[in-house]
Formats: sequence, C-alpha cells, structure tokens
Amino acid sequence: MKFRHVASMAFWMALTTACTSQQQSVSPELSLKDAVGDQFLIGVALNTRQTAAGDSLSQNLVKRHFTAIVPENCMKMEEIHPEEDRYDFSKADELVNFGISNGLVVTGHCLIWHSQLAPWFCVDKDGKPVSAEVLKERMKEHIYTVVKRYKGKIRGWDVVNEAIIEDGSYRKSPFYEILGEEFIPLAFQYAHEADPDAELYYNDYGMDIEGRRNGVVKLIRTLKERGLRIDAVGMQGHMGMDHPDINEFEKSMMAFAAEGVKVMITEWDMSALPTVKQGANIADTLAYQAALNPYTESLPDSVSKVWNTRMKQFFQLFEKHADVITRVTAWGLTDNDSWKNDFPIKGRTDYPLLFDRNYQPKPFVKELMEEASAEQPVK
Ligand code: XIL
Repeated sequence: MKFRHVASMAFWMALTTACTSQQQSVSPELSLKDAVGDQFLIGVALNTRQTAAGDSLSQNLVKRHFTAIVPENCMKMEEIHPEEDRYDFSKADELVNFGISNGLVVTGHCLIWHSQLAPWFCVDKDGKPVSAEVLKERMKEHIYTVVKRYKGKIRGWDVVNEAIIEDGSYRKSPFYEILGEEFIPLAFQYAHEADPDAELYYNDYGMDIEGRRNGVVKLIRTLKERGLRIDAVGMQGHMGMDHPDINEFEKSMMAFAAEGVKVMITEWDMSALPTVKQGANIADTLAYQAALNPYTESLPDSVSKVWNTRMKQFFQLFEKHADVITRVTAWGLTDNDSWKNDFPIKGRTDYPLLFDRNYQPKPFVKELMEEASAEQPVK
C-alpha cells in the first residue's frame, strides 16, 4: 500500500470549506500529474476536436495535468475501419502524434467491441452472419492492421471491451454468436502477434458487480492457462452518486490483482445527476424529464460537496492500491465534453469530470494538488 499524500485532518477540512466554489483560481504551478507523482499514470480520453490543431486551451490543459491519453472514439471500428477495404486513420494518427510529441503514454481503445462496430464486420453482403472462418480472418486482418500501424507508439490496447455481463456469462454479441467464447483468446492472440511488445487489456464496466467480477476472473484464468498475454484489467469506472459501492469496487480490484494482472481505471467519470433506472420510460412526462435534468444552470454547492467527497474517496482508494493500479484515466477533459451529457438520456447538463466547463479543476482535484504541493520540501 502506498499513501503518498496523507494530509492532516485540519488541513483537509480547511480546504474542503475553502474550495466549494468551482470557480476558484488555481496557482499556475499546481498540476495533477505532479500530485499523482509516480503512483500511476493519470490519463484523459480525448475527442478529435481536442487533438486537432487549434484547440490549444484543451491541449495545454492536457499537457499540464496528464501523463496519458486515449481516443474517446476515433479508434473504434466504425470510425477506423468503416468499410471492409477502407481504413480511416486520419484522426487516430492525429491523436497518436499529439501523444508522442508531448511525451504522453497512448492507449489504444478498442479492438473488438459489439458497440460502435463497423456495420459490415460480422455480416455478409446479404446481411447474414458470416461464418466462423470469415469472422476470424476479418478479426485477424483488422487487429493486425491497426496494431501494427501504431507499433512502438501505443503502449497497450483494450483488446476486448464489454464481453461479460452481470451474471458472469458472455454477452450474446455477434462475435460470441459466431465464434463462441473463443473470440476473446483469438483477439488476444492476434493482438500479441501484431505487436509482441504491446500490453494487452480486457476492459469492462459495472465491474463492482459480483457476477461480472467472477466472470472476468474466470476469463483471466482462461487466457493465462492458454499462455496468452494479458497485462491488465480495465475497470471503466462510470460512476454515479449512488453506485458503485466503494467496497464492492475495491473487492473487484483485489480479485483481479490476485490473478496476477494490473488494474486500470480506464473511463473514470461520476454523473452528478439522478441515476436513470433501467427500463424507465424516459419519454413519460415533461416533469419526469425535468427531474432527471435538474441542474441546467449550475451544480448546487450541496450536491457539489457530496460529489467531490465521493470522488476523493475513490481517488484515495486508487492511491491506497497504487501498487496494483497502473493508470487512472478520466473519460473526457471537461464537463462540457462528457458523453454523460447525452447518455443515457440526450441533452442533460452533467458534471462528471475532473475539470469544469471553464477548464478549472474541481475542488477535490484542487485539494489533491494543494495537499501534494504542501508536502514538498520548501526550496
Ligand atoms: C462513448 C463515447 O464517450 C461517446 O462519445 C460515444 O458516443 C459512445 O461511446 N464504454 C466505452 C467507451 O468503452 O468507449 C464509451 O465511450 C463509453 C462506454
């Protein structure tokens, strides 16, 4: 266990009181990556606007505070390989070049996923599922082409994303329907053949749930028993004010680490809005919709306090287990960029990320930076 920054209780309470407003300015010397130090990489998912020339505000924030980046969408199959004989590497190249030229560790996301899948990939020209042989060939060609292109530039890949469901069984995705469980070992094998030096990860959400935890543990064992490389499990970490339970989340971290892999928090965000219950008819009434989007102007201080406390608790959990955690990545730079504004309902105003709509650090981030800098010996 590593507790790099343990502030005194008095200091922590004084800061909590002082930092409830998100608009407070931050000393230009403070940076999140300095606060995190060598505990783990601190990463951020970037969209294509942010890596394009011109968005210097975002780029400067990334360079100042983060040590790692991952593409939010542009390496997903529907974007990078939209048609069988056509790849589009333009945006992915831009992201990788931005990372390399700024000394940032780049992660590839993701090779095999049922969502944002290229529409042609698992079907023939009549729209019928392809044979197992054809799908294997297509997976191999796709993985070889993408992974080899970024060999030496991308440290590791989310090889398979979201393949295990809550009861621990396999998601009935087209990959599973055609190839059965074998599609996962195959994907890891192809990725390793394409770049033997690349780290390989299995990535999923809702990892605090016991059934999925056990399913993922079983999967790690299967891969290892077959001599396949798996370096880490990515716990996406899309959170809300009422989930996950921090103890269950910790149990999963420990369960994966016990299998001899590292753990990464790969898509960290925490919605500050009411959780939308699955199966709810969200088109029900205007009143119901308004109740689900209550903070269109700003986040009330009372909610902000609870959100910041909860984020800090999770961050302290990551620090506590820094011996097994190799990266913590926020799923977006500022609240304005977050996918949570449009998921699971379109058009809400959410506050899930480490930086607010004015590119300012949230109070708990500011506290982390100030605590860390207060611990530095005076020069
Ligand atoms: C999300 C992106 O943030 C959105 O922009 C996109 O519209 C949908 O996908 N799990 C993942 C991520 O692994 O790739 C997803 O990203 C969020 C859920």
